[in-house]
Amino acid sequence: MDGSLSLPNPSVSRRQLLNFFTGAIVAATASAALYPGTKFFVPPAETTDADGSILAKDQLGHPIPASQILDEPTGTRALIAGLAGEPTYLTVKEDGTLDSMGIVNNCTHLGCTFPWNPVDQQFQCPCHGSRYDAQGSVERGPANRPLKLVHVQVKDNYIWISPWTEIDPRTGEKAWWV
Ligand code: FES
Repeated sequence: MDGSLSLPNPSVSRRQLLNFFTGAIVAATASAALYPGTKFFVPPAETTDADGSILAKDQLGHPIPASQILDEPTGTRALIAGLAGEPTYLTVKEDGTLDSMGIVNNCTHLGCTFPWNPVDQQFQCPCHGSRYDAQGSVERGPANRPLKLVHVQVKDNYIWISPWTEIDPRTGEKAWWV
């Protein structure tokens, strides 16, 4: 025993330090590369108003200015991402405002999405042929329930969507989805 203290080998310390910095650089590079990918899979947070309304967004998750939809001709049905991301039709009325009633694009037969047919003035489901009028009432089955409704409001040029929990004005009865 020589009584000397065992000091770390300086060359090992330098190697450890180098390994640490190399690891940190690799981790930072990987994070930077993965961030856009992970961000893509994480849905954007919903913007909620004091009354529980959510901000309508386009399919990329960007809020849609009301003026962008109101620039379209009257009678236009514009598709937006509504409550829980459900695709929802908004209607530009004859007076150039947005209809306060939005129609959820989810067929009440088996849930297909469907286009608006401006010639027939109907929502026409391509899956099994159900047809709905402009307000979402069934004109032809197999669907036997009207389309879901939501409330639509414009505030400060943005569109806000909230659940429809009252009587369904098309049937005069309690809304079936409540
Ligand atoms: S899902 Fe629309 S008619 Fe069947």
